[in-house]
Amino acid sequence: MKQDNFYITTPIYYPSGKPHMGHAYSSIIADVFARFKKNDNSNVFFLTGTDEHGLKIQNAAKKENMDPLMYCNKISKTFKDLSIQLNLSNDDFIRTTEKRHHDAVKDLWSKLIKSGDIYLSKYKGWYSVSDEAYYNEDEIIEKNGKKFSSFSGSDVEWVEEESFFFKLSAWEKRLLEFYKKNKKFILPESRRNEVIQFVKSGLKDLSISRTSFSWGIKVPEKNDHIIYVWLDALTNYLSALNYPNTSDKLFKNFWPASLHVIGKDILRFHAIYWPAFLLAANIEPPRRIFSHGWILSDDEKMSKSKGNILDPLEIIDNYGIDELRYYLMKEVSHGSDGSISLKNLQTCINSDLANNYGNLCQRVFTFIKNNCNSKVKKAKKNSKSDQELITKTNDLMNNLRDDMDNQNLNNYIKSVLKISFLTNKYINDEEPWKLKKTDVPQMNNILYLALDQIAKISILLNPLMPKTTLKVLHALNIKNNLVNNNFLNGKNIFDEEIKIKELSILFKKYT
Ligand code: MSP
Repeated sequence: MKQDNFYITTPIYYPSGKPHMGHAYSSIIADVFARFKKNDNSNVFFLTGTDEHGLKIQNAAKKENMDPLMYCNKISKTFKDLSIQLNLSNDDFIRTTEKRHHDAVKDLWSKLIKSGDIYLSKYKGWYSVSDEAYYNEDEIIEKNGKKFSSFSGSDVEWVEEESFFFKLSAWEKRLLEFYKKNKKFILPESRRNEVIQFVKSGLKDLSISRTSFSWGIKVPEKNDHIIYVWLDALTNYLSALNYPNTSDKLFKNFWPASLHVIGKDILRFHAIYWPAFLLAANIEPPRRIFSHGWILSDDEKMSKSKGNILDPLEIIDNYGIDELRYYLMKEVSHGSDGSISLKNLQTCINSDLANNYGNLCQRVFTFIKNNCNSKVKKAKKNSKSDQELITKTNDLMNNLRDDMDNQNLNNYIKSVLKISFLTNKYINDEEPWKLKKTDVPQMNNILYLALDQIAKISILLNPLMPKTTLKVLHALNIKNNLVNNNFLNGKNIFDEEIKIKELSILFKKYT
């Protein structure tokens, strides 16, 4: 089977406070894609990390009376710990304070100088420290004498200082051509349209250095200038592959990135600035930006300043990591916002996990253990209802790769759940318990097919719920290295006979 390379990233997080559910969501979504691709025999490189420079972090460190680097060491660790608690399968965790990253940023800067895309001038305009973003006059609103960005709601301050500029305006036409040629560069489509609209309305040159603070990467040969934190941060995707060493194996295998998973609030940086920087430096842009919506709590974006943060660690402790992963992926639909609550989490665990997938596994395993000495054999020929279940399952499985390739997780989950539902129904209809005395081979065949379905469902749910599904797959004597999607190409998972081990209860029910 062809081994293709797949490079996927999460946004690198600002270590400016406690990680929250929005961060967890962004990471888990990327992890699900990464794990699916691994199971689908791709050679995957999955990156996450922390974005540690800029005024926002300098201010956060000052508030804690700490040296910025000491502060970043402390908070970055909480994000690294979170990646373990979320059971992310990342291959690297990059910090922008690392030397490898500094080298990459400086190199990219000099490429942009060489290409003639940078000039020195003066910036006069609005800046939001919490977004680390410049805003145009028409994006500013005033409330109670204070100025805010109408885009993000964050407060802005007036900035006037000497600054290097990137000639973004010169890239307007070429960006539009690039979007036109690469129809799926930005997904979902609504976000793509938003970006195209914004670019069409005219791009201004972008200030890419600041002189009023010191925490960041210095501009080569002009050390009183600090490189704009977004130019710095975006480069992490290259530095993790050992750029500027473009003959390095990692870079050669994995650049251009296959997929940057990001929240909709940072779309402009990824879909406009990033490809423009790369095209200017003569580096191929990434293949895809997938922009997810926000996790809302009380219908508002979760954020420290709003004080409506749901703590992922608390939820993991109380409900389990797989339950949280599944719920977040199921609840928030493709690219739009989604409100989450403990009540909905419990309903989702009960209906999808305990009553559907969990119940299917439990009833089949228990029956086989009690009645078939923990092993079942396939019959020579399938019955009409066996064939019906197989055909319906194959139909549902047909689109799964496509759903994942288009980051349409909701469709994917819906189809897999439907397979689980149909299998439960098949057992109800076939009533294998009634065949115990009359037709043992037929009873065996029903259970064999049920186990085969359980194996498929478990492998398909494995990217979402790695721990629980492995429990089931191990109980089916499927080893980790055999957890792959080969059955989607028609390959059998089992031989004529399946032996099982004991399976403990998978999900707790909530009342
Ligand atoms: N440091 C930048 C990213 C640089 S990437 C080169 C940043 N960091 S962040 O910590 O503020 O956000 C990281 C990710 O979490 C973003 O994709 C953001 O959209 C996501 N989320 C933060 N809060 C969120 C929600 N409430 N809901 C969903 N995701 C949101 O931006």
